[in-house]
Amino acid sequence: MADIFVARSDDLEEGGRVFVSCDVGDIGVLRVKGKLHAFLNVCPHQGGPVCSGMLIHRVEEIIAEDKTFQGMRFNENDINIVCPWHGWEFNVETGRCAGDGKWSLRRFKVAEKNGEIHVTV
Ligand code: FES
Repeated sequence: MADIFVARSDDLEEGGRVFVSCDVGDIGVLRVKGKLHAFLNVCPHQGGPVCSGMLIHRVEEIIAEDKTFQGMRFNENDINIVCPWHGWEFNVETGRCAGDGKWSLRRFKVAEKNGEIHVTV
């Protein structure tokens, strides 16, 4: 395993992202709700630059007790990253595809220490 310097902590603000290239490929590092997430910048669908996609709250259906559909809403807790090529969405906490859980982004360990962000590949 190798430790790769990504950026200074001050250079990655909330909701932001930075990219680093290494032997494994391009890795996107995002700060969401104060937590860092690192993924290979390759979508499992057709290889799109998934880490450059927009961040949105997960959309969920509102179902009443009688099982009738009441509409849609944004889930305030779950945030997805949307691949810019075809719109597949992935949960930033798990990397799992929102539409089909058998697909996931490749995650990397990311740590912040002494004002620097590093990933382990
Ligand atoms: S390549 Fe990402 S959704 Fe198709």
